[in-house]
Amino acid sequence: MKIGYATTLKGTVTLPADKSISHRAALLAAIAEGETIVENYAESDDCTSTLRCIASLGAKVERDGSTVKITGRGDEGLVGPSGPLDCGNSGTTMRLLAGILAGQPFTSAMIGDDSLQSRPMKRIVEPLTMMGATIDSSDGHAPLIIHGMTPLHAIGYDMPISSAQVKSCVLLAGLFADGETSVTEYVATRDHTERMLAWFGVNVLERSDGAGTILTVSGPAQLTARDIVVPGDISAAAFFLVAAACLPGSDITMPNVGLNPTRRAIVDLLLGLGVDIQITDEQNNCNEPSGTIRVRGGIGHPYRSLKIHGERTAALIDEIPILAMLGTQLSGGLEVRDASDLRTKESDRISSIVDNLGMMGAFVDEFDDGFAVDLSILSPANIETRGDHRIAMAFAILDLINGGGSTIDYPECVAVSFPNFFEALREVSQ
Ligand code: S3P
Repeated sequence: MKIGYATTLKGTVTLPADKSISHRAALLAAIAEGETIVENYAESDDCTSTLRCIASLGAKVERDGSTVKITGRGDEGLVGPSGPLDCGNSGTTMRLLAGILAGQPFTSAMIGDDSLQSRPMKRIVEPLTMMGATIDSSDGHAPLIIHGMTPLHAIGYDMPISSAQVKSCVLLAGLFADGETSVTEYVATRDHTERMLAWFGVNVLERSDGAGTILTVSGPAQLTARDIVVPGDISAAAFFLVAAACLPGSDITMPNVGLNPTRRAIVDLLLGLGVDIQITDEQNNCNEPSGTIRVRGGIGHPYRSLKIHGERTAALIDEIPILAMLGTQLSGGLEVRDASDLRTKESDRISSIVDNLGMMGAFVDEFDDGFAVDLSILSPANIETRGDHRIAMAFAILDLINGGGSTIDYPECVAVSFPNFFEALREVSQ
């Protein structure tokens, strides 16, 4: 597929619903007592995988476009599925659902596509095993067979990596364990699970011991169904924010974007580079803040060098592919470190970024835990997405602002998070 080029971007972009919040809405609704109506549920492949899994576990799922009614199993409990639960390409589905399945009185199997089955699962197998679950894996990878059967016991878990998926998995398992299950995180990660558990009536206590944040849930816990409205996905907005910033004269408005403090680092980073971003219509729905973002083109300080290290890397983990594209436009360049987890995403994102940028002629260096890129004169190339939605969208934006001419080998992979990305981009391109 060829993208074409744009000199400015103008208009309004309707974003897909937040993927992380949609997954959690479906999973928590499935174990809650009563009926939850989720408005603006993400229509992406990943979030459809989660709905398919909870339906196989006995939750009643009635979907009408982006409105989904879920009748949870509450006190009755989930039922053992008749076959393997297919999580598709979705790491969030597999890792969060594993926490719930570990607490069920039946055995279940989880499978995924080739990409998901190559991603590390030891990070969740370890804490769930500490809680008393028995899990078979293929050397730390899916397929996973989760033998619920034995009752879970509460643990205190020191997270060795920074991962919202691992944190959420342990907290969800803690709902089914007797006593107080705690997770200590040393680097803040997205807190949608904590916020949504509170919405469903289960408070997650938070305290700090100086070094880290300790999150505690008391089990067994009963969730009460409650309607949810999902905001737009700020990680999807990031592609348009960067594209508009790089094309002076652009003026893009994105209504109803999630602005959770653990997700909005991209906005603050661009503001720091002197990009004109305004936020209006701020709201709070179901414990999640949101607002309308307007971005006007031009980078005020393109000579600044951008370093994304440590906690900042964790806060921007899904935005690194599009920030790498931004790096080619900054005379100070961009360096990303402490990002080795990027090697275990939908593709090895460090090598996907470095190899494709290299093919476009960028000045780029690869490190074990990141990369550095400098201001570059780029030429079109055949972009290898490696089936990774964020790589496809990031390079589509880079090609667009660079005058077009590249080809994207598997554009369909954007369906994982942003099914109408290319239409949305075409509509605002001028
Ligand atoms: C997610 C957490 C992040 C992120 C992923 C979604 C979530 O993964 O990269 O796209 O919804 O919890 P990790 O927790 O593995 O860092």
